[in-house]
Amino acid sequence: MDAHQPVLFFDSGVGGLSVLAPTRALLPTAPLVYVADDAGYPYGTKSEAEIAARVPALLGRLAERHRPRLIVIACNTASTIALDAVRAALDVAVVGTVPAIKPAAALSRTRAIAVLGTEATVRQGYVDRLAARFAADYLVLRHGSAALVDLAEAKLRGERADADAYAAIMDEMLAASGGERVDTVVLACTHFPLVEAELAAASPRPLTFVHGGDGIARRVASLTAGQPWPARAAPGVALFTGGAAGAERLRPALARHGLERVAAL
Ligand code: DGL
Repeated sequence: MDAHQPVLFFDSGVGGLSVLAPTRALLPTAPLVYVADDAGYPYGTKSEAEIAARVPALLGRLAERHRPRLIVIACNTASTIALDAVRAALDVAVVGTVPAIKPAAALSRTRAIAVLGTEATVRQGYVDRLAARFAADYLVLRHGSAALVDLAEAKLRGERADADAYAAIMDEMLAASGGERVDTVVLACTHFPLVEAELAAASPRPLTFVHGGDGIARRVASLTAGQPWPARAAPGVALFTGGAAGAERLRPALARHGLERVAAL
């Protein structure tokens, strides 16, 4: 194992930064390659077949080119649809991001939780299985929002959004039958922790928001335990499948995450 072999994070856009941040806090000198498949963005409105065809092929090319020591699929949509296929196709450890239903169920006092993800994620059998295993006798509401993914992208480009846009999403989610009992919300799309403060401010009552970023960071640390790391952090690289021009306005947010080099894939 070469100390400079990177950890590669993958998402459709900037959502994966919510997973990269806690990993970087735990492993501050880890070489980082962040890949945003912005040419395929958004994933949440795509079909299972489109995601299943796109993600393993793209990750296969990325693994060949960058020789990562580990890949983190920092995207719930890609993980709940294509994690098994990616693992079967690649000869490298792959960590997925799946809805944090288990910790949410442990935190909920009312035994009513909401899973807020993309439309594609909330309809997956993977979510049914997590709910059956960890929240069997709970109310588990599911709500998909493509608008919230766009709001998170816009925030990281430095654009301001109307607070009403967040309130509309929370109201719609909690208007479902039993919504008044919900006390815990799973942020089941990696874009959503990036706008957690806005969601909390737009909530009709205090809610607990849960996501998997810290757990994934610990998993990355445990899977790479004993491996060599560089003595000092080098600038991380952000690659965009749609070309680097589209990433220009994201540069400050990327730099805050240690990704100082931006390039086209
Ligand atoms: N960030 C992704 C997720 O966790 C997908 C967002 C999108 O492209 O729709 O699901």
